[in-house]
Amino acid sequence: MKFFIDTADIEEIKSANLRGWVDGVTTNPSLVAKAGKPFFDVIKEICKEVSGPVSAEVIGLESEQMLKEGRELAKLANNVVVKIPMTEQGMIAVKKLTSEGIKTNVTLVFSPVQALLAAKAGASMVSPFVGRLDDVGQNGMQMVAEVIEMYRNYDFSTEVLVASVRSPMHIQEAAVMGADIATIPFKVMQQMTQHPLTDKGIATFLSDWNKAQKK
Ligand code: E4P
Repeated sequence: MKFFIDTADIEEIKSANLRGWVDGVTTNPSLVAKAGKPFFDVIKEICKEVSGPVSAEVIGLESEQMLKEGRELAKLANNVVVKIPMTEQGMIAVKKLTSEGIKTNVTLVFSPVQALLAAKAGASMVSPFVGRLDDVGQNGMQMVAEVIEMYRNYDFSTEVLVASVRSPMHIQEAAVMGADIATIPFKVMQQMTQHPLTDKGIATFLSDWNKAQKK
């Protein structure tokens, strides 16, 4: 399973990279706005730091505008993946960019049939948003399970990228289901390292060691 980090903060990316947790990066307009630097500069900086795929999202809503932005983004670095929202116009852009050899990530996916359409259009990756679906009382991970099953049934090559991750349990369930990728906030990556019995075990080992030194 590949881990992407869901951030536009270069310091977080460097920290996660040091720990071996970064196979790629996803950004979105809200995350880039938080970084407080010009969009293209942020994407170029991230692409230098990471060799894996870096998703950068278009802002336009019409396919022609998405295509224009997508082509510009793809020129920034060879690991840029153009992130396109799941709309009819978006699917026109995905099909065209795919035919031009530009990788795409279809974002804001909230149902298995949306994911099916993204695969039909030729998307390289599809991003089901689990946390935001949980937030409205639906089951995000159930959607992911159905997307994986559908893609297996028909042998689609689109990778399933579990997004809008809120807790380590999302990652555990995604891995058990066989999702290709999860994009994870750095805070959740850190939470994944933690277990109270690990802390307790370290404290006991240290205390036993210190006692033995005093004998
Ligand atoms: C994915 O590519 C998105 O950037 C992200 O996972 C959105 O997550 P959120 O629902 O926590 O904003």
